[in-house]
Amino acid sequence: MNSKRAISVSQIPGGPGIATFGESDAIEVRIDSGFGFRQEVPAEVNLVSFLTLYSKTPPPVLRIQTPMENLRVGGDGAPADEDTVTPWDVQGTAETGIDYDKLIKRFGSDQITAELIERIERVTKIPAHPFIKRGIFFSHRDLHGILKRHEEGKPFYLYTGRGPSSTALHMGHLVPFLFTKWMQDAFDVPLVIQLTDDEKFLWKNLSVEETMRLARENAKDIIACGFDVEKTFIFSDFNYVGQCPEFYQNIVSVSRCVTMNQARGIFGFADTDCIGKIQFPSVEAAPCFSTSFPQIFKKRKDIPCLIPCAIDQDPYFRMSRDVAPRLGFQKPALMHSTFFPALQGAQSKMSASDANSAIFLTDTANQIKKKINKYAFSGGRTTTEEHREFGGNCDIDISYQYLKFFLNDDDRLAEIKADYTSGKMLTGELKAVLIAELQKLVSEIQKKRTEVTDAVVDEFMRPRPLKFKY
Ligand code: TYM
Ligand code: TRP
Repeated sequence: MNSKRAISVSQIPGGPGIATFGESDAIEVRIDSGFGFRQEVPAEVNLVSFLTLYSKTPPPVLRIQTPMENLRVGGDGAPADEDTVTPWDVQGTAETGIDYDKLIKRFGSDQITAELIERIERVTKIPAHPFIKRGIFFSHRDLHGILKRHEEGKPFYLYTGRGPSSTALHMGHLVPFLFTKWMQDAFDVPLVIQLTDDEKFLWKNLSVEETMRLARENAKDIIACGFDVEKTFIFSDFNYVGQCPEFYQNIVSVSRCVTMNQARGIFGFADTDCIGKIQFPSVEAAPCFSTSFPQIFKKRKDIPCLIPCAIDQDPYFRMSRDVAPRLGFQKPALMHSTFFPALQGAQSKMSASDANSAIFLTDTANQIKKKINKYAFSGGRTTTEEHREFGGNCDIDISYQYLKFFLNDDDRLAEIKADYTSGKMLTGELKAVLIAELQKLVSEIQKKRTEVTDAVVDEFMRPRPLKFKY
């Protein structure tokens, strides 16, 4: 990849002190006046000494051009007036939510363009999933490479996961899982799903036993999304490290490649964080590499994965991509989704840690109705008269946003948008459409979940070959 990203000193992640680069051989340093040169830098550079070394008076704006992935975005490095997006925190600054165009630039990923969508359709020979067509899966890394492999008949696999922090999944989690299910059908490839009970043990105040229990409960919700047991392996970290030495070997191999400075730069770890957290990213990185699953891929090292996830997980995989070549693996490819917003508004994502922000897969039809009527942020006007005259604002209206995710009928969605914007449709009517849609979706998954017995979970979680030959 030769795309470059320019950043100015004031924006260097982690403040003016340490900037952490990947394996960059050289970066381009350019002063705004246009003066530019290439300068070798070590993987981590103390910017203050770097500037002192090369410049008597550091100019107010110094631009550093770096191959996109080489820059470590720290903590997540966003200046205060920008959106925060980390694996643990998502906060937008605007009412309309996260600025995803800016995020693509900051993270250095690529947009899923109309041409790419056409290419996906050509390769899969089926219409693209509505999540792709509606820009919900909006960003990617190396998807072209995966599509090319698929066309050439070369294998790849899908990898996704869940951090079991609550008994049930919420509607936001359905986004990556329903999409992954579609990808599994479209490409007919193996899928591995990591349940990071260890992550939630380290981050939340939960016992080992509780995180393991939650992992199994979550596995049931995930299975209810329709995955094929012959093509899917679900594993919990606490169990799988003991079942598969190769998995642990990969974890430690990854961890040897990442310095404390880099980890701090990517994830914003502080000196007061326990050392388990600092090690954890290597656990999420290891499933990117096919040798972590010898029962599925035998000893093959050359099978890359494609990871569907919301963009909050990207820091883990920027790190994984950085270490992959050093370990002799291919870099994982990614498809990123936007966030399913919180009921209260698009500034934050729906999150299991805030029960009122979320609709859970365990909610009853009545709870769904009450939550939406009570909490779903409205882009409508204060009075019916005003609403009829000026119309509602779909860009900030949570009920409309939710329908964009889960109402599959394109024509109906367009009609709702037009009617709500013109004032013909009232907030109550919009909410009623949403309530009916979500009740239908949730009850379908609940019904499928009743068929997921303990024996079914055991089979999905048993290390075993899948139906693909390697
Ligand atoms: P977790 O449990 O926080 O989230 C699971 C998956 O759901 C996505 N997600 C959302 N997507 C849309 N809207 C939302 N409001 C929303 N909230 C969460 C997450 O991005 C994720 O894809 N550390 C991970 C577990 C993990 C993982 C992985 C995830 C391990 N390996 C590989 C993706 C890919 C976690 O705690 O996810
Ligand atoms: N004129 C700058 C200087 O003061 C040019 C320069 C060279 C520079 N190396 C630099 C500026 C590194 C910033 C950083 O020497």
